[in-house]
Amino acid sequence: MQNDYLNANRASWDLRTETHKDSEFYDLEGFKKGKNSLNNIELEALGDVSGRSMLHLQCHFGQDSLSWARLGAEVTGLDLSPKAIDLARALSRELQIPARFVESDLYSAPEKIDGKFDLVFTSYGTYGWLPDLERWAAVIEHFLKPGGVFYIVDFHPTLYLFDFDSGRISYEYFNRGEPYVEESEGTYADPQAKIRHTDYFWSHSLEEVISPFLKRGLQLEDFREFDYSPYNCFPNMVERAPGEYVYGKAGVRLPHLFSLKCRKRKEERGKTN
Ligand SMILES: C[S@@+](CC[C@H](N)C(=O)[O-])C[C@H]1O[C@@H](n2cnc3c(N)ncnc32)[C@H](O)[C@@H]1O
Repeated sequence: MQNDYLNANRASWDLRTETHKDSEFYDLEGFKKGKNSLNNIELEALGDVSGRSMLHLQCHFGQDSLSWARLGAEVTGLDLSPKAIDLARALSRELQIPARFVESDLYSAPEKIDGKFDLVFTSYGTYGWLPDLERWAAVIEHFLKPGGVFYIVDFHPTLYLFDFDSGRISYEYFNRGEPYVEESEGTYADPQAKIRHTDYFWSHSLEEVISPFLKRGLQLEDFREFDYSPYNCFPNMVERAPGEYVYGKAGVRLPHLFSLKCRKRKEERGKTN
């Protein structure tokens, strides 16, 4: 199973990267001219990153990683897709924005990357590709310096209940312990793209996302829910205000995103007071 899901998802993200780099959605030309690809949500949450070391997990082809680097962070980006990592490295060279990019499955990251970081960041379309969030949190904790911060902003598990085409609730809220395996065409950045891929993904409840960090003793500093997405990345989204998209078929006000900010304690547990 392990290799099946990694091989399928790697192939899928390689294919998508080829499409994404030329898509309006990712606006690579605008990015090359200096546009920052990050949203106010994560920019405000992390504040001034200059001089901070950052590990960006599931960085795709590096636009957000390089945007943090433009703001002064020392960034290491990690992704499963070799095509995405190749493109991220090429962009770093072309734009002369220093950053390190590592091709790896998330769970193998401790074998591939040395060092500890002030910040571990991940965003928009991440945890659903991972079978086990206890192991995910262990990897994140491993990479945090004492006092370091983990921040995730991602799509809300409630939004992922929907089949976005039909508006029916079609996916489970709680992890079934096995993946959904779906073959589909196109990609969120270009639904008409003539690419076909098989994807393995998992449902995870909010408890599953948050509790591994609490169990590990990280301090929960902030948790938020947002009733919009900054991306028009699912079928049937409506722009309710500039840059704010909502899923139109639900008919009720839904949580679209959550964000979580946790800090690793400076002292080992039990040693404070
Ligand atoms: C939706 S993208 C993240 C989006 C990113 N915020 C962006 O728009 O640039 C998800 C990324 O997760 C990566 N990924 C999926 N499974 C992974 C795994 N097991 N280990 C590391 N990266 C993985 C994919 O290759 C893909 O680049």
